[in-house]
Amino acid sequence: MRIAVVASPTEVGSLAAQVVERVLRAGASVLGVATGSTFVPVYEQLARVHERDPFDTSRLHFVLLDEYVGLPATHPNRYGNEIVRLIADPLGVPPDRVLAPDVDASNLESACRSYETLLRELGGADLQLLGLGRNGHIGFNEPGSSPTSRTRLVHLTPSTIDANRRFFECIEPPSAVITQGIATILESKQVLLVATGHGKREAVRRFLTGSLDLDLPATALWLHPNATAVLDRESARDHDG
Ligand code: F6R
Repeated sequence: MRIAVVASPTEVGSLAAQVVERVLRAGASVLGVATGSTFVPVYEQLARVHERDPFDTSRLHFVLLDEYVGLPATHPNRYGNEIVRLIADPLGVPPDRVLAPDVDASNLESACRSYETLLRELGGADLQLLGLGRNGHIGFNEPGSSPTSRTRLVHLTPSTIDANRRFFECIEPPSAVITQGIATILESKQVLLVATGHGKREAVRRFLTGSLDLDLPATALWLHPNATAVLDRESARDHDG
């Protein structure tokens, strides 16, 4: 695990964008994407780099880490729509190359299996981007998730629903998602975890102990041979390394 602690969320954005840029310039064609406030500066920086010195995105696919169940397909908070807006559009990747589990399917179990098949057919993510939940989740693998879990339907914990409430103005946030499992995430060729802000401090402190803790799903990333964590000073304040 490579760990970088930088001064601010903007610097986290720049450093994380550099990691993504390097992978894309090396010819990656599958980028695993996460959403959430931590990724706003990351995608902004990446869009800026692309505008200054474009990289080839003609073969690039985005694969979503997770998607809400129960929002209409056109809802702006659907993660697929956010990814189109925040990063696919700026990088010139058409919406049909933004791939997500079929959360509108009548059979969600089979939709989860199909997503696993799709990821396998694409050869897996060259780089999977990950945010960190206050409770230590990655994707929406909530505390207690098995390191062998695959893409599946998850009912979110009350604390996660509450944390998502800030993104929803007039309606209750969805209580279910389809998320890649921890084993699915670990099959990516490279993983990049980003975390910022004091709200993540406790999760970051436990993550940085470096030992697998089922109660803090992000610790599973220590099992990955090519993992990087980019943190800001606020989130890593209790880290003395
Ligand atoms: C979203 C996702 C979540 C978020 C995490 C952090 O696609 O997978 O794990 O990355 O909840 O969210 P923010 O960045 O909003 O604190």
